[in-house]
Amino acid sequence: MAIPAGLRTGLKLPVIAAPMFLISEPGLVTACCRAGVIGTFPTLNARTTGILDEWMTEISQFCTSGDAPWGVNLIVHKSNARLDDDLALVLKHKPPLVITSVGHPGNIAEKVHAYGGVVFHDVIHMRHAAKAAEAGVDGIIAVCAGAGGHAGTLNPFAFIPQLKQTFDKTIILAGTISDGRSVRAAEVLGADMAYLGTRFIASREARVADGYKRMIEDDSSSDIVYTNKISGIWGNFLNRSLHDAGVDPETGKVTPPEGGAKTPWKEIWSAGQGIGTIDDSPPVADIIDRLKRDYSAARDETVSF
Ligand SMILES: Cc1cc2nc3c(=O)[nH]c(=O)nc-3n(C[C@H](O)[C@H](O)[C@H](O)COP(=O)(O)O)c2cc1C
Repeated sequence: MAIPAGLRTGLKLPVIAAPMFLISEPGLVTACCRAGVIGTFPTLNARTTGILDEWMTEISQFCTSGDAPWGVNLIVHKSNARLDDDLALVLKHKPPLVITSVGHPGNIAEKVHAYGGVVFHDVIHMRHAAKAAEAGVDGIIAVCAGAGGHAGTLNPFAFIPQLKQTFDKTIILAGTISDGRSVRAAEVLGADMAYLGTRFIASREARVADGYKRMIEDDSSSDIVYTNKISGIWGNFLNRSLHDAGVDPETGKVTPPEGGAKTPWKEIWSAGQGIGTIDDSPPVADIIDRLKRDYSAARDETVSF
């Protein structure tokens, strides 16, 4: 399979800027689309459905026919009380891509297909991939070991070829991809697209604390800790941010620092193991130019035997 036709217009690289809680918003999304990769955000980043309505209006007006498509992420877990209202806005604004995560996609694919949209579902193992395939999604995002946010433990060399044997639609590889060579490597492994989160936190447009960007620039993969003690679900976090917040990643025990306890995701920062090759926070357009250059160089390399 390849990239669905509905997502090809304006796409300059097989890359999706992944949705990130408290981080992705219209500024980051539109910068990505303008520079030629799919920009996305979780609907819950808009504090109310009224704000979500405004964001989707703004993005759909900004992204013209020359830009890459945009998308939203719906958390389909039963704890998401806003799901029905947010889905109604999806059907109103018709984003070309809808990403479902943390649960079963239910009948969302049928509804999104009715307006011509595409649905990708994110999973950390094969069992959930099979269920999403039965639900009619157009693509599976394989979230592999080391990914930012809630991540799995599967190595992409195990996950992608296995998924490819059973799923004949679009496959997207997520986790630790921060440079163009890795985007190309994802394709060689059998994925159609690469899903990059952490790389875009360290960008000029990302509205996060400077300290967060600096920690991503300065630290490396061994400074990432995998724990389920922060949000109850296994995920990857910057160890120094846990330390600064007085959190023991082994036990979750908090010894509040002076100034009070810190909030997960807001001051206890998540990032993937791909931080090792990130050492600056330039404009999104520059990041995407670099991705394009290094992707093309890797694609054009001749093999040694
Ligand atoms: C701070 C942060 C927040 C995230 N929030 C979400 C989210 O709300 N919904 C979601 O589906 N994935 C979320 N993710 C996961 C990303 O969509 C993506 O799978 C991941 O960033 C890819 O790995 P990478 O960060 O190593 O590139 C988040 C990731 C990060 C780093």
